[in-house]
Amino acid sequence: MDTYEVKTYTSGMSWTGLAATIWDPSGGDSEQPDQAYIQNLLTANPGPALDVGCGTGRLLLRYLAAGFDVDGIDTSADMLRICQEKAAAQGLKPVLLQQAMQELDLARQYRVIYVPCGTFCLIIDRDDAQEALRRMYTHLLPGGLLVFNLFWPYKESEPLSAEEQVEGGVWHPMWTNTLPDGREVVQSFKRLRVDRIEQVMNAHRRYQLVQAGQIVHEEIFASDERWYYKHEVVLMLEKAGFSRVQVTADWTDQPAVEPPPDSIVFMAHRD
Ligand SMILES: C[S@@+](CC[C@H](N)C(=O)[O-])C[C@H]1O[C@@H](n2cnc3c(N)ncnc32)[C@H](O)[C@@H]1O
Repeated sequence: MDTYEVKTYTSGMSWTGLAATIWDPSGGDSEQPDQAYIQNLLTANPGPALDVGCGTGRLLLRYLAAGFDVDGIDTSADMLRICQEKAAAQGLKPVLLQQAMQELDLARQYRVIYVPCGTFCLIIDRDDAQEALRRMYTHLLPGGLLVFNLFWPYKESEPLSAEEQVEGGVWHPMWTNTLPDGREVVQSFKRLRVDRIEQVMNAHRRYQLVQAGQIVHEEIFASDERWYYKHEVVLMLEKAGFSRVQVTADWTDQPAVEPPPDSIVFMAHRD
C-alpha cells in the first residue's frame, strides 16, 4: 500500500501540477532548433504572432524580449501561471489566454501562428484536430502562415515502426530532475495501447516527488498521442482552407526524406 498521496488524472488532464512545476527544471526552457527557425519566419512576416501551447514561455518570452508581438494560448492554467511569473520577472507583459486550439476564439488575427513541440499530436479526436486547423486558418490574416511540427512515428520503437513495440503496461523511467528547493521529481512513462490502424497511442505519465530519498507524492496523467501520415496532414490543411503546404525535416528547410528525422514540419499559407 502507498504511504504517500497518489493523484491520478487520466481523463482530459494535461500539464498541470508536478508536470508543470518540473517542465523548466527538466529542460523545458532550453534553447532548441525551432527557436531560430520560427524567429526567421517572424522576421520575414512582420505582424502579430500566436504561440499555440505556449507552455511556460520557452519561445514566447524570448520572442517578446526580442521585440516581436506574440500572444500565447495554452490549456494548462499552471503552465500559463509559470509563464506569467517569468514574464513579470523580465518586465514583459504578454497576452496569455487559457484556451484549446480546437476552441480557438480570439479577438485578433495573426500573421504567423506556430504550434511547436508536436503539440498538435495531443489532440486525439480527429474532428477536434480538423477544427483546430480550421480555427487557426480563420485566425490568420490574409497572407499569414501556420507552422507546426509532428513527431515522426516510424522511428525505432515508435508505434508505426516495424520494430518490436516497447513493452506495454510497464513503467519506463525517463528523467530525474531537481526542483529549486532540492526535492527531486522522477518522471516515468507507460504505454498502455498502440492502435496502428487508428494511429493513436494511449499512455500514462507518472511524476513522483522525492524528498530525502522517499517518494512523498505522486501524480499520474493520461499522455495519449495521435500520429499522422504526411499526405493526410496536407489534405487536412487543404480542407481547412490552407494552400502552398510545405513539408520539411525537423525545423530546417531540408525536405523530409528517409531516414526519418525526429519530426516533420508543416508550413501552410492563408492566401
Ligand atoms: C509539450 S508542452 C510544450 C510547451 C511549449 N510550447 C514549449 O515548447 O516549451 C505542450 C503544451 O501544450 C499545451 N496543450 C496541450 N493540448 C493543447 C491544446 N489542445 N491547445 C492548446 N494547448 C495545448 C499543454 O498544456 C502544454 O503546455
